[in-house]
Amino acid sequence: MKRLLHIIATPREDESRTLQVSQVFLDSFKEKHPDWLIDELNLAKESLPELSMKSVSGKYILLQGKNLFGKSKELWAEIIQHIERFKTADFFLISTPMWNFHIPYMLKHYIDLIVQPHYLFRYTEAGTVEGLVQNKKMLIITSCGGQYGKDQKDLDFQEPYLRWIFNFVGINDISFIHAEGMDMGEEIERKSLETAKSLAKKIASNLAD
Ligand SMILES: Cc1cc2nc3c(=O)[nH]c(=O)nc-3n(C[C@H](O)[C@H](O)[C@H](O)COP(=O)(O)O)c2cc1C
Repeated sequence: MKRLLHIIATPREDESRTLQVSQVFLDSFKEKHPDWLIDELNLAKESLPELSMKSVSGKYILLQGKNLFGKSKELWAEIIQHIERFKTADFFLISTPMWNFHIPYMLKHYIDLIVQPHYLFRYTEAGTVEGLVQNKKMLIITSCGGQYGKDQKDLDFQEPYLRWIFNFVGINDISFIHAEGMDMGEEIERKSLETAKSLAKKIASNLAD
């Protein structure tokens, strides 16, 4: 069974504007792909493992091209589960608001856990990086209080970072939907959500099987 991994990075549940747009996408997606499993990972509810003094050493073992073993592997059991859950998904949907011009800390925490050498990327003999999550699509739905689309694009650190980090692990087919101006009054919010929702519907119905 194919699986869509929906990664949620807002704690606002029913109040969330980002999730309103994602719901429109998911409704159309499910209509078109009734056989897919929707796997929801709500980072606001999940208690992600910490990278502590002890557990972070696993990263350095992997960076040296070695495999995790013994105690280091035990300490990484939960992290490896998250990596596998990500890596084996067939489609990625990320719902994230902008927080302080960037992504919320819970999404950064998740990225710091899953983006690991040997699992999501590797160094080739030529010294280049090869992403190991190949031939998969990602849709990132964001919302923010202000408007950056016109002449303040430089203040949006979210989209360039998310593009870079997921390209780094091999995901090159990434689309974005931004619902901007959420905190600039009801009229702007309404119009912006309307546009974002209709784009979400369009993207879902244009997705190849
Ligand atoms: C901690 C925090 C930081 C925020 N920082 C920004 C920001 O830098 N720029 C911006 O335009 N909006 C910012 N906002 C507003 C949110 O991006 C906006 O309300 C968004 O629609 C919230 O998404 P949600 O309703 O899905 O949770 C921030 C909100 C919070 C709670």
